[in-house]
Amino acid sequence: MQNIDWNTLGFKYMDTHCHIRYVWRDGAWGPGELAAEPYLNMHIAAACLHYGQAAFEGMKAFRCKDGKIRVFRPQVNAQRMANTARRTCMAPVPEAMFVDAVSRVIRANDDFVPPYGTGGSLYIRPLLIGSGAQIGVAPASEYTFLVLVVPVGPYYKGGLQPVRAVILDDYDRAAPLGVGNVKVAGNYAASLYAHEQAKHAGFPVELYLDSKEHKYVEEFATSNFIGITKDGRYVTPDSSSILPSVTNNTLKQIAADLGLTVEVRPVPFEELAEFAEVGACGTAVVVTPVCEIVRGDTVIKIGSQTGCGPVLQKLYETVQGIQYGELPDTHGWCVEV
Ligand code: COI
Repeated sequence: MQNIDWNTLGFKYMDTHCHIRYVWRDGAWGPGELAAEPYLNMHIAAACLHYGQAAFEGMKAFRCKDGKIRVFRPQVNAQRMANTARRTCMAPVPEAMFVDAVSRVIRANDDFVPPYGTGGSLYIRPLLIGSGAQIGVAPASEYTFLVLVVPVGPYYKGGLQPVRAVILDDYDRAAPLGVGNVKVAGNYAASLYAHEQAKHAGFPVELYLDSKEHKYVEEFATSNFIGITKDGRYVTPDSSSILPSVTNNTLKQIAADLGLTVEVRPVPFEELAEFAEVGACGTAVVVTPVCEIVRGDTVIKIGSQTGCGPVLQKLYETVQGIQYGELPDTHGWCVEV
């Protein structure tokens, strides 16, 4: 094992032994190679640099109770990256190649997977970019797919401590028929300015409303929105411009397994004040309770101001329990590395 203080890991980049890298040329992917240097030698006219042909994914691998390393639902991330590739005219990464790349890079960095019991995990970041030179606006003729890994702890300080969120009506994340439903790097560039404004105002996260009318809740900058009603229903927005979160998909299934009613439907802004619990969910944040949402002069307090509500706590414990191999993996979500 690496000599790392596993218990104080945050969500920060650190070098590991290597990443894995593949190049697509003349219609085919080459063999993947493990590369120790965390740099790419790239053409100055690469399409990803000028025209934003860049997509990424986020997954986690866990050192489980039985000592084995398992990665969570990599096939679903592979499918989502294929959707992003299609929408941005990039060479698709076949699912088998994606899952194999993930396994190989984890095995090559297995001493960076945090020990069981520390609450840490190995964050896996696949990246697909148009690396071929392209000066007219058109898809690149060469693509690079790579997967890097980083050991991580909680995304927000304090793990399950609730955070405050802000709605900034001057900024939108994604257009209704745009690319909000795929994981294009530019979606995150589009959110950075608002995110910095939110941070300066003391909010770790911003919540977006639909771009057309600013009437309906969409998602947080880096995670999906979940609301738990007072009678225990799981509510998550339905919209064409939300990223289909693998964690939200997982939690919906867990909620249904626990006997909760799951509703995927438009969520009007006014309904925020009615929820017993609100959470942000995603691979990086897992489930993070949100105790306050501010929009201009309106301050909406939700649930406990100091801890996590009981339903989100149960969902969090269940998903983490499955991921760390403490609870039965009845849906076959965990893939042994
Ligand atoms: C993830 O949860 O993996 C994400 O992609 C969010 C983020 C850190 C950009």
